[in-house]
Amino acid sequence: MSIPLHPDIERVLIDEATLRARVAELAAQIDRDYAGVDRLLLIGVLKGAFIFLADLARQLHVPHAVDFMAVSSYGMAAVSGAVRIVLDLREPIEGKHVMLVEDIVDSGKTLAYLHHVLASRGPASLRTCTLLRKERPEALSVPIDYLGFTIPDVWVVGYGLDYADTHRTLPYIGVLKRSVYQRA
Ligand code: PRP
Repeated sequence: MSIPLHPDIERVLIDEATLRARVAELAAQIDRDYAGVDRLLLIGVLKGAFIFLADLARQLHVPHAVDFMAVSSYGMAAVSGAVRIVLDLREPIEGKHVMLVEDIVDSGKTLAYLHHVLASRGPASLRTCTLLRKERPEALSVPIDYLGFTIPDVWVVGYGLDYADTHRTLPYIGVLKRSVYQRA
């Protein structure tokens, strides 16, 4: 029996089973790459990454810890690229193996900024993992070490991603109906 789609959702882009399988593959790849590392620090970017990070971390065998950051965009940041940290890490990352975990890379500004900030703090290593990357030729070129899926340039919600702080807990990645954000 199929569950009816949420009325704001045009179509499912990535279903639950596909997400689960890909997250398991990413975790296996990370486990292989970090074999022998005594501890990996996963840094989730709030709010969007909270579900992906939770699922990814629970599939990992490499010893790991979890921390979070949150950033906010200044007004027209989509244009200016200005990003500021509103929640920072609790501890220094100097000498640690760090993985920045994002839900989506869109313009690339958030990941580029956070990568720059974290790299300046002297980690032993720094890699990035994002569940989604939008296909946008004009996006900043950012270092993505682990990527779940490349998706078209459409508004997606669910599995942590939101529209006006709603729809984050849909279990799939869905395409939002245009009528939802155009009426706002
Ligand atoms: C989203 C997403 C990424 C960022 C990607 O966060 O979670 O952090 O945008 O966009 P960019 O590549 O254009 O910088 P958002 O600002 O919507 O906050 P949220 O995670 O709290 O939803």
